[in-house]
Amino acid sequence: MHLDPVVTPPHRSVFDHMLTVPTPALVYDVDNAMRSVGRMLDDVSLVSGARLNVALKSCHTPAVLRHLADAGLGADCASVRELDLAVSVGFDELSATGPSFSDEGALDRLAERGVVLDATSIDQLELIGRTRSGSDVGLRLRLPIPETLDTANSFGANSRFGVGATDPAVHAVLVRHRLRVTRLHLHTGQLSPHLFLWELRYTLTVAESMSHVELIDFGGGFYDFYADRAVARRALQTADELLAQWRARTGRPMAIRFEPGAAVLGPHGYLVTTVQSIEQAHPAYGAEVVQVDTSAWNYAPWHLPAAVPLDEPERQPKSARLVSGNTLYENDFFGMTGRAGRPLIDMAAVSVGERLVLTNAGAYTMTNRRDFNLLGNLREYLIVDDALRPVDTEMAATR
Ligand SMILES: Cc1ncc(COP(=O)(O)O)c(C=O)c1O
Repeated sequence: MHLDPVVTPPHRSVFDHMLTVPTPALVYDVDNAMRSVGRMLDDVSLVSGARLNVALKSCHTPAVLRHLADAGLGADCASVRELDLAVSVGFDELSATGPSFSDEGALDRLAERGVVLDATSIDQLELIGRTRSGSDVGLRLRLPIPETLDTANSFGANSRFGVGATDPAVHAVLVRHRLRVTRLHLHTGQLSPHLFLWELRYTLTVAESMSHVELIDFGGGFYDFYADRAVARRALQTADELLAQWRARTGRPMAIRFEPGAAVLGPHGYLVTTVQSIEQAHPAYGAEVVQVDTSAWNYAPWHLPAAVPLDEPERQPKSARLVSGNTLYENDFFGMTGRAGRPLIDMAAVSVGERLVLTNAGAYTMTNRRDFNLLGNLREYLIVDDALRPVDTEMAATR
């Protein structure tokens, strides 16, 4: 059977649209994003009782989110304001986990929406117990991922978040406040299909001893999950079998969720910039430094982009260059991702005044934004039905 990869290349017209926007601009190719989402939904439907949500932390732009809600995705929220955003966009299923739900007011807001908080620390669990004794609760778990499955991009025992499933202190709080655990929630960074199956087996074992658990949420990390779509689909088929066996053995229902962020919109967002200055032989970096009219520090601190001359995307030859932003910050380089050293990007030669597109900007761009040097906001555009619209117009059109 022919299987498209989850992300297929954009239509040629996307490049034409990007030639028309004033720079800097963030252009979301919603048409192609929705093709990818359609493939993910198709795959997730291989597991009975599974649904796909989006991690709202990756995008706060209602005009984009509305398309995801319309496609049937739910939303995972990390704060009360994300919850409000998800409600206003119209997501039909909501979940919540994160340290910011730290007072009674936040718990009230969740309760008003019927959302059960997945507690990420013992103190948060204690707060829920103290203020809502006898209620349902979820647990964000920290997992003892085996060494063979742990990578530089996954977080097991080294995660900042979650409680241990076997921690007696957790069980003491649950018993003291008569809390019923109905949900288990994970997010362990990048989720390879192998890691997913290990996590499924682990959490199904945990759920056997917690008799009210009815849903396991595996978080995001779909870049690794979809390194090979055929492998991902096989893992989902295996998951379906494991869940069916578990349900038959225990006589209990069990649903699962995924909530990727980066892989849903990341590949479909383009930062369209103009080259402002080029230093051909930087004395210390030993590479050409190409400075553009927007900032990695302000908009793309984590992103690993490709850099493509918009006029001629296939231009050759390519060599290692640095792409810097327009703030007065020494580390304002695209592709920093928190690592040491200056990130070289393999790209073609460009000239001052030319348009350079930085890819992979569709997620965590506006949600990470800061305004260093008061350089102002990036304008957002959507391509929907092959037409380009600024985000405000799109909002009005879909209201
Ligand atoms: C609880 C939770 N779910 C989902 C995600 C989304 O992860 P990603 O964008 O890597 O898919 C995150 C990211 O931090 C998270 O903390």
